[in-house]
Amino acid sequence: MTATVLIARTTPKTVDAVGVPVATTGSVPRSLGLNRAALTAAGFEGKAGQTLVIPSGTGPSQIAVGIGEPGSLTVHGLRSAAAAVVRAAGKRAVVATTLTDLDGVDAASAAQAVVEGALLAAYKFAGIKKDANTSALTQLVLVVGEARSKGATAGSERGQATAAAACMARDLANLPPAYMTARHMAEKAVEVANTTGLQVEVFNRDQLAAMGCGGMLGVNAGSTEPPRVVRLTYTPRNPTGHLALVGKGVMFDSGGLSIKPSDGMITMKMDMSGAAAVLATMSTLKALKCKAKVTAYLMCTDNMSGGNAFKLGDVLTFRNGKTAEIHNTDAEGRLVLADGLSLAVEAGPDAIVDIATLTGACMVALGTKIAGVIGNDQPFVDKVRAASAATDEKVWQLPLEKAYRKQLDSYAADMRNIGGPPGGAITAALFLSEFVADVPWAHLDIAGPMAVDSDDGWLSKGATGFGTRLLIDLATTFTK
Ligand code: BES
Ligand code: MN
Ligand code: ZN
Repeated sequence: MTATVLIARTTPKTVDAVGVPVATTGSVPRSLGLNRAALTAAGFEGKAGQTLVIPSGTGPSQIAVGIGEPGSLTVHGLRSAAAAVVRAAGKRAVVATTLTDLDGVDAASAAQAVVEGALLAAYKFAGIKKDANTSALTQLVLVVGEARSKGATAGSERGQATAAAACMARDLANLPPAYMTARHMAEKAVEVANTTGLQVEVFNRDQLAAMGCGGMLGVNAGSTEPPRVVRLTYTPRNPTGHLALVGKGVMFDSGGLSIKPSDGMITMKMDMSGAAAVLATMSTLKALKCKAKVTAYLMCTDNMSGGNAFKLGDVLTFRNGKTAEIHNTDAEGRLVLADGLSLAVEAGPDAIVDIATLTGACMVALGTKIAGVIGNDQPFVDKVRAASAATDEKVWQLPLEKAYRKQLDSYAADMRNIGGPPGGAITAALFLSEFVADVPWAHLDIAGPMAVDSDDGWLSKGATGFGTRLLIDLATTFTK
């Protein structure tokens, strides 16, 4: 269960812990019970993200949380500080904090960031266990003065929505592959759509065949689990623009006949993290009063190596009529996205974003904390980068270098499905660019940041839900 959030004027006596911000210099709040010298003696200097738990005999524990140099506070610093408080609070269930009451960040942004940091850090995958993992935090109390209370309430509501969405994406990706098949994903999408005011359509194998989605069918061929494509539509009154989202939903990527080594396969239940982020994003649009129309496609299938599996040398024909010769069945994400992007273009959007755990090459280039962004339209890529900057879900732009396009040349089809190996993230994007016509488009390669090995600030072990908050920001600020 996600913790509830309460806004209070003063710290309730009944809380288990209070997170109190302390800068590197300047006054130390008296409520901490320790002065600067005592904090320093305990090794606490007030550096950003540092914490010190000060137990108290009867009352709540005080948790000093560093916020760095006075005046250096940012909204991202607040999110991280709130996460640090929750991690330091350990098993304590009701945690209050005055972090939202600091000067320097407006009340709404501060409350949103503090709620996000706390709820994302409190997230724990329940797992499939006799006794489920449970998150310790049951209630977060934001202590704010009268003047900031209205802003804080609005920000807190938004933060609860974005954090809940990211946690939904995490749950979807953390579930074992037998618990989260393409059919399960589609069922979940229908359920989400029905409770959050979206239109939903689900396409099965026969329908995909009739639609000419040869990428979906090719990748699905080696699996006994049928594929699903889900189209979700959010339509506000007088939309400010129309954004399309396409998510890679490879429910398990074995590599197919180009099978992955065992070690590289363990995280491949998360190869649907793009689709999970898109579904989670869609779930928030009505509640957040998004003003743009948003059409989303979840491209869901396993990539398996059964007797009917697609083979090297096979040529697949995609929804837009183009063909690809298969040189590696493990480059399957681009094949399902080819159909998804083609469908998205047909919806007539002003811009398209796809999000996909697409290439190991992108992870090699940018590591596990930064996603790659590549696009065909700099103003739109800049909108994605602005959403990244607003949410602290980091991206770095790579070039859509046309000179590499010849790596994809094929004598048998319009292109082959792999280039390189050098420049693997870029050649993958060049492949995708064949399916976006002339619509402004940005591709997010989230192979690196899809998961973390251990708890880290507001990231909790396992799937990260990366891209959810970024896409929510993009959608809710989108104008054509
Ligand atoms: N799903 C993988 C990419 C991936 C790797 C995501 C590691 C997250 C962590 C993708 O389908 C894949 O297998 N890509 C290949 C492409 C190659 C065959 C051109 C890769 O990156 O090795
Ligand atoms: Mn693959
Ligand atoms: Zn994959």
